[in-house]
Amino acid sequence: MTETTDGQVADGQVPGPTEWGGSVGVGPWAGPWPTDPRYDHELLAEGDRRNVVDRYRYWRLEAVVADLDARRHPFHVAIENFEHDLNIGTVVRTANAFLAAEVHVVGRRRWNRRGAMVTDRYQHLRHHPDVSGLLEHAAAEGLTVVAVDNGPGAVPLETVSLPRHCVLLFGQEGPGLTAEARDGAALTVSIAQFGSTRSLNAGVAAGIAMHAWIREHADPSAVVQPG
Ligand SMILES: C[S@@+](CC[C@H](N)C(=O)[O-])C[C@H]1O[C@@H](n2cnc3c(N)ncnc32)[C@H](O)[C@@H]1O
Repeated sequence: MTETTDGQVADGQVPGPTEWGGSVGVGPWAGPWPTDPRYDHELLAEGDRRNVVDRYRYWRLEAVVADLDARRHPFHVAIENFEHDLNIGTVVRTANAFLAAEVHVVGRRRWNRRGAMVTDRYQHLRHHPDVSGLLEHAAAEGLTVVAVDNGPGAVPLETVSLPRHCVLLFGQEGPGLTAEARDGAALTVSIAQFGSTRSLNAGVAAGIAMHAWIREHADPSAVVQPG
């Protein structure tokens, strides 16, 4: 599937599971152009079809990121990527939606961006070659490392209080979290399951854990509506 530069699915292609296809956004600006430097002249002239909330229509990318930076939440997200995990795009998109401070990719630098649907442009991303690099960074930044996994010793996410300044650390499909990551975390939390499968998809688990942080710490009056 080809994605156009503005994050839309190219005409004539079937949308994937995380893509709505079709066209969103607005056409060229009608009337006299605004003079606010946050506006992008090319978008004003040609229209803005990006997958952004209406608050940011016609804004320059840098202006959107600056506005997000002023409001970011103090939780971070980290995911291990030693085997090219395909969930990272989903994790980045959800981290963007919940306004995480930063997403950390641990292991391989390269990851499949398709599931991110261009949200990575608005999200701070940091790479660590190994788990020790992530742990050192978290310690230096005063972030509590919270492993999210359903192994022995984990406490239920449903009842735990998550630290406000933290890194939620996820493992990969297949191997799950490495022993080094589990050992380095201050706390391990598990998501309750009731069926037959051993685990949730890592991208789904990340969404649930991020939302647990949101429910506990975010300000509901600061919600941004899409339109
Ligand atoms: C598919 S799981 C890994 C497989 C797992 N080790 C197993 O034995 O089936 C990938 C990652 O998703 C997250 N995960 C999946 N299910 C979870 C659950 N119930 N609670 C917490 N984390 C979960 C964890 O971060 C985990 O490392």
